[in-house]
Amino acid sequence: MIIIKTDSYEDMSKKAASIIAEQIISKPNSVIGLATGSTPIGTYEELVKLNKASEIDFSDITTFNLDEYRGLPRDNDQSYYYFMNDNLFDHVNIDKSRTHVPNGMIEDADLECGNYEAAIKAAGGVDLQLVGIGHNGHIGFNEPSDEFDKVTHCVDLTESTIEANKRFFASIDDVPRQAYTMGIGTIMAAKKVVVVANGTGKAEIVKAAFQGPITPKVPASALQLHQNVIVVCDAEAAALLED
Ligand code: PGA
Repeated sequence: MIIIKTDSYEDMSKKAASIIAEQIISKPNSVIGLATGSTPIGTYEELVKLNKASEIDFSDITTFNLDEYRGLPRDNDQSYYYFMNDNLFDHVNIDKSRTHVPNGMIEDADLECGNYEAAIKAAGGVDLQLVGIGHNGHIGFNEPSDEFDKVTHCVDLTESTIEANKRFFASIDDVPRQAYTMGIGTIMAAKKVVVVANGTGKAEIVKAAFQGPITPKVPASALQLHQNVIVVCDAEAAALLED
């Protein structure tokens, strides 16, 4: 695991974008796993700039997002489908038919999650997966648990996640209680994983996940076992890490 400490959110975003750009340039038909949340927004802004400057070409790129709320229509501005169009896909030369976000409106969870996992495999697997980290150590919506979940599945969101995400909704009652998410196994199968984390609020979980014990109680800790992980932090999120 390589941990890169940057000075600021802007530098974290530029560094993460440059790693993704390197992947796209070296393999123009890469399969890129994408993440939502506030952390990667700056990374997407940098990727849009690189695309507008013709430094990277998305035309042959395929994407798979980590997760989606269950039961939230795609035109809801809090859906991750909407987020991805708004923050990245609408601004780059990507073929939207190659972009994939789990469909939270398909009620049959096993069907949708099985199809999603199969689509990732059919695309040849993920070359580079971008992830943020939740305050409770979740990646995607893999919440703390007694075991590492393997494949794409339906999860009940924990109270802490609902609490963390209520800032995006009119009230806490509007936050969906379930989501479809890639499993830890799905994420671990990516050839490379890039983690982004910023802010003081992430310092403790960054330390626990990447320098603490490997346990499903801290789902991101599984990444310590992955052979090709780059964690890109700002100074605040890296504050408790030992050299
Ligand atoms: P955040 O969410 O980027 O909004 O902090 C991260 C996550 O929950 O994965």
